[in-house]
Amino acid sequence: EDPRIHGIASSIRVVPNFPKPGIMFQDITTLLLDHKAFKNTVDLFVERYKGQNISVVAGIEARGFIFGPPIALAIGAKFVPLRKPRKLPGKVISEKYVLEYGTDCLEMHVEAVKFGERALVVDDLIATGGTLCAAIRLLERVGAEVVECACVIELPELKEGERVTGRQSATSRERKIEREKET
Ligand code: PRP
Ligand code: MG
Repeated sequence: EDPRIHGIASSIRVVPNFPKPGIMFQDITTLLLDHKAFKNTVDLFVERYKGQNISVVAGIEARGFIFGPPIALAIGAKFVPLRKPRKLPGKVISEKYVLEYGTDCLEMHVEAVKFGERALVVDDLIATGGTLCAAIRLLERVGAEVVECACVIELPELKEGERVTGRQSATSRERKIEREKET
């Protein structure tokens, strides 16, 4: 494991019972206050993805908007925000995903990504993988190739999932989503 991982992991504050009882909230705002941890986080992803001909970094609202742009700038890609519904003014496509209670939705400007572009999806955290899978579907609908999904945190409770299959990367902080299984 890369020696920088420890400092990154210990900069993340875990808040029990937030925002509701039983949830162990992973608070990345403390990582952002720690310049070394923030820089190391971005650097690890940049080292992994530079030189891979990735032209799109798609960040998931809201916390994927924090980690995505510095990675995009460093690897020479454009940044495409994947937003919650009714926030984008242009022509959009939408993908719903299932939450613990109810559903949510992500939208993307259709003209932002061209057929055949190589894309990286960025978010802060993977739990069930439902959010990332919706992001993958958006990109694939416009003909992009999703190279990988990069997340800072993978909830330790999540094993090889019913809804997500994947493999651990060299940093143990990224997971390649291969396919969303039928639920
Ligand atoms: C959290 C987190 C991921 C998602 C992961 O976002 O930032 O985006 O949940 O969950 P999943 O793997 O089970 O889909 P949230 O929906 O709380 O919104 P926010 O990032 O806008 O705060
Ligand atoms: Mg989120």
